[in-house]
Amino acid sequence: MFPCCWLALVALIPVTLSTNPGVKVKLTAKGLEYGRQLGMASIQKKLKTIKVPDMSGTQKVPTIGKVRYSLTNLKIVDVGLPKSTLDLVPGTGVRLSIDNAFISLHGNWRVKYLRIIKDSGSFDLKVSGLTITTSIAIKSDETGRPVVSSVNCVTAVGSVSIKFHGGASWLYNLFKKFIDKALRKALEKQICNLVADVVSDLNLQLKTLNVVAKVDQYADIEYSMVSAPTVSKASIELGMKGEFYNTGKHREPPFSPAAFSLPPETNNMLYIGLSAFTANSAAFVYNTAGALSLYITDDMIPQGSPIRLNTRTFGTFIPQIAKRFPGLMMKLLVRTAKNPVVTFEPNNATVDATCTVTAYAIHPNATLSPLFVLNLETSVSARVFVSGTRLAGAVSLNKMALTLETSYVGEFPVRALDSIFQLVLKVVVIPILNVQLAKGYPLPTLGKMKLVNTQLQVLKDYVLIGTDVQFTG
Ligand SMILES: *[C@@H]1O[C@H](CO)[C@@H](O)[C@H](O)[C@H]1NC(C)=O
Ligand SMILES: *[C@@H]1O[C@H](CO)[C@@H](O)[C@H](O)[C@H]1NC(C)=O
Repeated sequence: MFPCCWLALVALIPVTLSTNPGVKVKLTAKGLEYGRQLGMASIQKKLKTIKVPDMSGTQKVPTIGKVRYSLTNLKIVDVGLPKSTLDLVPGTGVRLSIDNAFISLHGNWRVKYLRIIKDSGSFDLKVSGLTITTSIAIKSDETGRPVVSSVNCVTAVGSVSIKFHGGASWLYNLFKKFIDKALRKALEKQICNLVADVVSDLNLQLKTLNVVAKVDQYADIEYSMVSAPTVSKASIELGMKGEFYNTGKHREPPFSPAAFSLPPETNNMLYIGLSAFTANSAAFVYNTAGALSLYITDDMIPQGSPIRLNTRTFGTFIPQIAKRFPGLMMKLLVRTAKNPVVTFEPNNATVDATCTVTAYAIHPNATLSPLFVLNLETSVSARVFVSGTRLAGAVSLNKMALTLETSYVGEFPVRALDSIFQLVLKVVVIPILNVQLAKGYPLPTLGKMKLVNTQLQVLKDYVLIGTDVQFTG
């Protein structure tokens, strides 16, 4: 009884949390490693800004008496971070560990004792065996972008060694004592704050995530995260909306994203999975906006073609047209009758569209006489590819089928028009569509991100892009 109820409860959970992402992005250990390299350069630069305050005071030294001392102008000359790791912490974020780091400093010393004796010189300091450990929490901010913060930072200084230039040897013992203490205090106080600054600077990069990317005059695509990032042993995964919207009008399509999961591949730094939902939300937006319609006129048919858009050509298949509208040019209006449907099957992206084709005769005074309306069912195969940071495509005709919807010129065998419409699709409609598709649709990106070693696979219900990234500038 009890396990049964428990199962029923578990089965209900996905229903109550049903904002499935349309796009998933996975950052692998390889991507994290690249991030570590960039991050260490920033941390190194930042640690060079550590300020060590001047120290001065008076100290009693046996046999010499009261010594006034000051240590000034302490400057960092080098910071070495030879060993660091960035590890995934499932459920939380990542942990950054820096070991065996060192910091070299240079400064000036000055003493005055026995009332009249003054002495000064310089010194070199080396702090070694420095460890810095911090957790970096990854969450989602109110705009749906990832946001990171440094938490539980701990730092420890191993040893401090000092080399004096000039001065008597007893000075060494005098200074050693409080330099060591003051330095540890100064470093331990500042390092974690500086590391937190570097981590929080990362948010400036993350803020550049194009949560709303402009596509064209009709559409935007939204890449805001639908939930907090999930961190597992092997990757960080972000679930994004991945939905096209009509610019300015947020109307939800009559379908929602199905759950999908990315394969466990980790060869690339980044994997982006774009679901059929994303592609279908585009089809919904363009169809709803009336953008999927096209007037076809004779000048769009290649010169050499024997098939022309006039009543003579059509008259050879439908004699009534030649009889009733002799010597006129024609025009076709092709438009989608419902939302085209995009299907992703392994190695096969297909778009099925149901269109209507209205044929008109054009009178010399430009008045149009409708001749017939056809239903056109088409299926095209799409080749999908990445171009820069955009996803582009090119389609080719799979098959088409014509049926008669309405005729204004009496009965005629629709099959007779197959070859004309095959040609119209192949030489007019598809090339125009391909010009649009070649422009591409923005992928989720950060700042000046470049994609390299990019591969794309069409899988069941989604397209998987595996890529490495480079940040330039
Ligand atoms: C792709 O799938 C469609 C239907 O889903 C099918 O008609 C077509 O033949 C397939 N193409 C290939 C190359 O397998
Ligand atoms: C245009 O020409 C057609 C055919 O000659 C005629 O039926 C129609 O009335 C004309 N329309 C106008 C606005 O003149």
